[in-house]
Amino acid sequence: MTPHNHAKPGDYADAVLLPGDPLRAKWIAEDFFDNPRQVNAVRNCLGFTGTWKGKPVSVQATGMGQPSLSIYVHELINVYGVQKLIRVGTAGGLNAKVKVRDLIIAQGATTDSNIVRDAFPGYAFAPLADFSLLRDSVARAEKAGHRYHVGNMLSSDLFYHVEPGLEGYGRLPDHGILGVEMEAAALYLLAARFNRQALAICTMSDCLITGEAMSAEDRQSSLKDMIALSLDVATGA
Ligand code: HPA
Repeated sequence: MTPHNHAKPGDYADAVLLPGDPLRAKWIAEDFFDNPRQVNAVRNCLGFTGTWKGKPVSVQATGMGQPSLSIYVHELINVYGVQKLIRVGTAGGLNAKVKVRDLIIAQGATTDSNIVRDAFPGYAFAPLADFSLLRDSVARAEKAGHRYHVGNMLSSDLFYHVEPGLEGYGRLPDHGILGVEMEAAALYLLAARFNRQALAICTMSDCLITGEAMSAEDRQSSLKDMIALSLDVATGA
């Protein structure tokens, strides 16, 4: 038990999916898991454990942004012993080749966050995905025929930048950054610090170049592909 999580030791499986949204965590548990049971509801930041294709797995909402994710992930690792952490989310598109509904599998995560910068005075640390989770997710995405991109994500502390539109992202779109979300870099930092496996997979939900966005129906079906893929990777099913 922690101030943010009332689950008991052993309540989480070794592998945990991490959506930002608590209601998405509930949806994942109810629509994908067999025998889901709620393990956390503190601050309505819901967590569940169940099975996927017979293998134990959990889902825990992280809230939005790196400070919030860092709390849940630190505790999942250090209090509950979680080994594999897979963020499932949405991202804004920053590269013309990434279309709405495409998957972005974050090989690395660039960030403007002091959470990463302040941990390494004098250095620019490169937060990276776990290679075996990355390789497995790419192989499965390929086999399933999903449209996907592997590369550098931006994890920004800001949803609303001072400059409008693409201007807020400076030179990053010219340096191969595929999309922007708000959590992956801190997840990769904590996985590196505590020697765990982490990966972030996002569905591109709104293109910052064209202004195109996913419809409500697209959102549901595209997210389903991402969740099933992530559950396979998390459990090795
Ligand atoms: N910015 C940050 N995070 C996001 C976005 C965005 O435009 N879209 C989906 N997640």
